[in-house]
Amino acid sequence: MSNAEKYALGPVPAIAGTDYARVPVDQFRAAVAKVVADAWDESPEKIFAGVDLGKKGADFAVATPRFKKGKPDEWVQKVVDAFKPDNYLSEVRAQGPFLMFNANRESFAYHILNTISNMSSEAEANPDSNTLAYGTNEDGKGKHMVIDFSSPNIAKPFHAGHLRSTIIGAVISNLHDAAGWKVTRLNYLGDWGTQYGLLSLGFDRYGNEEALKKDPIKHLFEVYVKINKDNAAEKEAFNKGEITDASTTTHAQAQRIFKSMEDGDETALKQWRRFRDLSIGKLDQTYETLNVHFDVYWGESQVSNEGIERAIRLCQEKGLTVEEENGALLVDLKKYKLDRAIIRKADGTSIYLTRDLGGAYDRFLKYKFDKQIYVTAHQQALHFKQLFKTLELMGEEYADRLEHVTFGMVHGMSTRKGNVVFLDDILLDAKDTMHEAMKSNEAKYAQVEDPEATSAIIGATAVKIQDMSGKRMNDYTFDIKRCTSFEGDFGPFIQYSHVRLCSVQRKNPNVHVAETANDIDISILSQPKIHEILYHLGQYPDVVKTALKFSEPSTIVTWCFKLSHLVGSAWETIKVSGASEAEAKARLFLFIQIRHVLASAMRLLSLTPIERM
Ligand code: ARG
Repeated sequence: MSNAEKYALGPVPAIAGTDYARVPVDQFRAAVAKVVADAWDESPEKIFAGVDLGKKGADFAVATPRFKKGKPDEWVQKVVDAFKPDNYLSEVRAQGPFLMFNANRESFAYHILNTISNMSSEAEANPDSNTLAYGTNEDGKGKHMVIDFSSPNIAKPFHAGHLRSTIIGAVISNLHDAAGWKVTRLNYLGDWGTQYGLLSLGFDRYGNEEALKKDPIKHLFEVYVKINKDNAAEKEAFNKGEITDASTTTHAQAQRIFKSMEDGDETALKQWRRFRDLSIGKLDQTYETLNVHFDVYWGESQVSNEGIERAIRLCQEKGLTVEEENGALLVDLKKYKLDRAIIRKADGTSIYLTRDLGGAYDRFLKYKFDKQIYVTAHQQALHFKQLFKTLELMGEEYADRLEHVTFGMVHGMSTRKGNVVFLDDILLDAKDTMHEAMKSNEAKYAQVEDPEATSAIIGATAVKIQDMSGKRMNDYTFDIKRCTSFEGDFGPFIQYSHVRLCSVQRKNPNVHVAETANDIDISILSQPKIHEILYHLGQYPDVVKTALKFSEPSTIVTWCFKLSHLVGSAWETIKVSGASEAEAKARLFLFIQIRHVLASAMRLLSLTPIERM
């Protein structure tokens, strides 16, 4: 008899929101629901929601009081009496008011492994599809999500907030890919505003062509710092009465330059455009190192005038605005406890909020998105509340499709260059630290094909995992030494687990690699240790959904660490080398499936799984 026949599963009721072909665990849960529902004369759908996973001591648990009032013992007994073991469930027992069920281990193992292996083959054969691998789903099929993340400002260094937005935004994007959404990754470059007038002026005063070409982001920042010093000094002088004509100040000149940029003056724009292009070139290299990609750079400068004018007009028509004596226009959101916010400055130029109002409409026209997510630090919460409320009051049809995902602060980020943080330096530090650590094992080091590239990948993994280990709203303290450590729950450990899973196959070239779960003896895989691993793998599709639902990458990270620990403690008992032929074959098949799932979880986290380190 083939495994497929031996472990055939009987029919269970279909339950809304489940997809048994992708999520075998749900089919087992439905079997529990059916047993209980039949004994109690209830609907399986209702019971299904109360079948808990991951409770200690059993695979599935049902709390009787959740459904039945009074005499829990009798209700429990009814189920125990009616129970018959099958390919879904091997046993049920009472534990106080709880019903504790165990899966039929062999059949469970077969179905989990079979699903992972079939879906992996399917995904490998169709690399362009995102929703074939185990763990994916089709919840977002036919829907389009636009995500605005990273979005640094040219002329100012990429700060910790941008790093977090980049890391978290990339994972939220990937989670949507995995749920079948069409995803547009948008980088809303901060490339517009009075500060770019200031930067132009600064470059005329302090700029250096060569330095600009060599590292545009660093050089523009140096220029920006210098001109800002002038600005601050003049302000002080003005306040003391040492400067009387405000129109000659650096600030006033910068404002005039920005005004001419907004009016479309080519000479003013030419300089600015060069800064922008060079900065993007440099950013692209950094994003490459981070394994993050954008579909479009749609910066603040590219928000259409029509979009902005339309927003201002609608705000006025809906009676949301008040005008100040100097001509500045504000939206009044006091009724909503959101204060007042400027949408047009006295000289007629736009500001951050104005451009976001216009930009939302531009993007809706272009993408007709079903959802748009903005990822920024928590400090911008008020800005986004004002933005979303104003769009709602303007009557925008997409106003309820907008979401702001925020995160906490990073403490202690500084590099060898001082207090200002350049992302490149951080990644270099992480890479160097990893490179040193790798060198300490000479034999292994000799086998790594490209130690430079490998240490860069593990370094980036360390920085990212440190960022995503805690809930995104938590602050954390950046610590390069700690996060690059091999000891403990840090990024390198996840890479190491993957490497180890790759090495089982490499080290056992004579063991036959089974093509499907039908080619192995499943009974070899019924040890408790293995069941624990398979049970954890079984929950992965749900973990992916939960991570998306709460925009919470840490959910995936926690899952990866648990898997890494489970596998880490199994090497001694689940041996491939030296085992009998059948054992080696079954176990190797198991490790290959674990590797498939760990690798896809890592990719969701925007990590590049490596094979040797
Ligand atoms: N450039 C902004 C900053 O650095 C972030 C932009 C976020 N996106 C948006 N649509 N406002 O603070």
